[in-house]
Amino acid sequence: MVSGLEEVVAAETILSDVDGQAGRLIIRGQSLDELVKHATYESVLTLLWEGFFKKQPPASEMPILLGTAREEVFEHLAAADTDILKQPTVDAVRALIARLPDADDIGSALLLVAAPAVFTPGILRLQSKLAPIAPNAKLGHAADMLRMLSGEAPTPEQASALDRYLVTVSDHGLNASTFAARVVASTRAGLTSATLAAMSALKGPLHGGAPGPVLDALDSIDSPAHASGWLQDALNRGERLMGFGHRVYRVRDPRADALKEAIKNLAQAGQVDTTRLQLAESVEAAALDLLARKKPNRPLQTNVEFYTALLLEALGLPREAFTCVFAAGRSGGWIAHAREQMLNGRLIRPQSRYVGPQPEPRRDAAA
Ligand code: ACO
Repeated sequence: MVSGLEEVVAAETILSDVDGQAGRLIIRGQSLDELVKHATYESVLTLLWEGFFKKQPPASEMPILLGTAREEVFEHLAAADTDILKQPTVDAVRALIARLPDADDIGSALLLVAAPAVFTPGILRLQSKLAPIAPNAKLGHAADMLRMLSGEAPTPEQASALDRYLVTVSDHGLNASTFAARVVASTRAGLTSATLAAMSALKGPLHGGAPGPVLDALDSIDSPAHASGWLQDALNRGERLMGFGHRVYRVRDPRADALKEAIKNLAQAGQVDTTRLQLAESVEAAALDLLARKKPNRPLQTNVEFYTALLLEALGLPREAFTCVFAAGRSGGWIAHAREQMLNGRLIRPQSRYVGPQPEPRRDAAA
């Protein structure tokens, strides 16, 4: 049996290819390095969803359809009562998503992509006793997300940085959350069920919950001079360094570089705290050095979550919202995989090997 299903091929997909040896990600025929240069998140939805819905909107209509979906899901924020608002942000957003219809058409798909983008700023504001800000369907998805959080129009550089983030994380092979979505979709449950399963898998710290702890570590390290000692102590305690290592990549995660470039663009526009960036770079260098010495035969490199943490922080997003912002990008991929599974796949139902005790022979059997 393969522990953690490592290297087991559990689905065929036309959606994305993660080449862990070459450090390359292909999304529907386009390499991530090229995609981030020209794509918007809306255009990536068109790319990912092509052929998976009866009524496929043309690329030119996707921005306004997604904007209209944002307006529609905004109405559901009214259901955020005190019990929901007491929960961690990711759980509150998930509770609201659970109220959406569980269908499998393009309309549901758009609502499910709009939902984390609208519910996340809405819940954060309500948790801070501020009124939620209604979406503006005419804005780009990323720009509107940032506006719904702060109440102010983001700078073009900020909007473009968040857009690049959403594109970068839109799909990534059969990661844990996407696998969860495909398992649920294989039972022919609807897209809301598949998305909820995926989001539940995403929130764990070994998957999409890592960037918050990356910032906690930076806060605690505080100065480049403390980086090595702090990280060594963490490793001595048997802890994992958040933002490093990956199940598939044996070289640097290409998404880390795509996001690092987004941060550099913000820095050039004077919109990043450069002291924080320098601290992060020192921590990254020290962590890579320590991990290389600890595991010489298992390359552990920087993963997407390290630079996610820095980028989302630079955009003014609070760390408790990071997993939801990840879901805002990955939802497009989850839905594409769920539809691919519904249309082409079989029920996913593997076997387990029983290693528990056998029943005792019945005492009265001989009598
Ligand atoms: N820090 C310290 N040690 C590590 C790390 C790390 N970040 N990652 C792996 N290792 C160690 C493991 O403890 C293991 O050691 P052992 O053999 O002595 O038990 C060894 O390296 C091998 O680990 P892998 O087999 O590569 O780990 P696996 O594939 O099961 O896990 C994972 C991959 C979960 C991403 C892991 O690297 C990790 O926990 N990283 C930190 C959390 C993180 O950054 N998660 C985000 C991942 S990206 C994403 O999901 C979007």
